[in-house]
Amino acid sequence: MNLSEQYRPRTLSELIGQPKAVKVVERIAERGIGGRAFWISGATGIGKTTLARIIANMIAQRHSIVEYDSADKFKEADADRLADTMHTYGFLSPTGLYGRACIINEAHGLRRAVVRQLLGILERLPGHCVVIFTTTRDGEDALFEDDIDAHPLLSRCVQIPLTNQGLAGAFAERARQVADAEGLNGKPLAAYKRLVQRCRNNMRAVLQAVESGEMVE
Ligand SMILES: Nc1ncnc2c1ncn2[C@@H]1O[C@H](COP(=O)(O)OP(=O)(O)OP(=O)(O)O)[C@@H](O)[C@H]1O
Ligand SMILES: [Mg+2]
Repeated sequence: MNLSEQYRPRTLSELIGQPKAVKVVERIAERGIGGRAFWISGATGIGKTTLARIIANMIAQRHSIVEYDSADKFKEADADRLADTMHTYGFLSPTGLYGRACIINEAHGLRRAVVRQLLGILERLPGHCVVIFTTTRDGEDALFEDDIDAHPLLSRCVQIPLTNQGLAGAFAERARQVADAEGLNGKPLAAYKRLVQRCRNNMRAVLQAVESGEMVE
């Protein structure tokens, strides 16, 4: 397994540098995470898909989580299937979870017809279901196919913008810990900070560099 998958945070407390986003999710979890859609936005490699999976795991076991790598793979038939399956509970986990989750990454690529379907689906989302979108794109005015107005869809979602600020130090320390654990560390913390800067805070890219031996000696 590559390092970035191996060291992908599995819980909110492991997610680095996103205290505001974590707080929002914790607050919502107190009232129940189900019956909601989430819109997670932010730069590449800072934890959007990671957070989406953490939220999904709060309600559903892995066989009841479907994930689309990009929105253009989420077609009208998939939206129909989503609407159908959401009427029933998911598999029961040993910890008593029976929900369902659908994650749609690169959500800015959603097709016009699918956006229309989703508006209806999100309106009637059962309490055991969550739908989670992730995107690198900012702004609501022109998203999706044909740059359509995203307000109607986004207003049905809990919006969680991830910050790109203040990550460098924490990401550098984490990268060094990972490198240490894997026997790939031979450089001081300052070198990791430079690496994180060069990768523009993209932790996936940082861990790829570590994996390829860049921080050895
Ligand atoms: N906030 C974070 N804390 C700890 N590790 C992180 C964090 N963000 C990213 N990572 C590491 O980087 C990898 C990639 O993160 P993730 O898939 O969540 O990025 P993303 O924001 O969805 O990026 P993209 O826009 O390219 O899809 C993770 O598997 C994890 O190892
Ligand atoms: Mg992603």
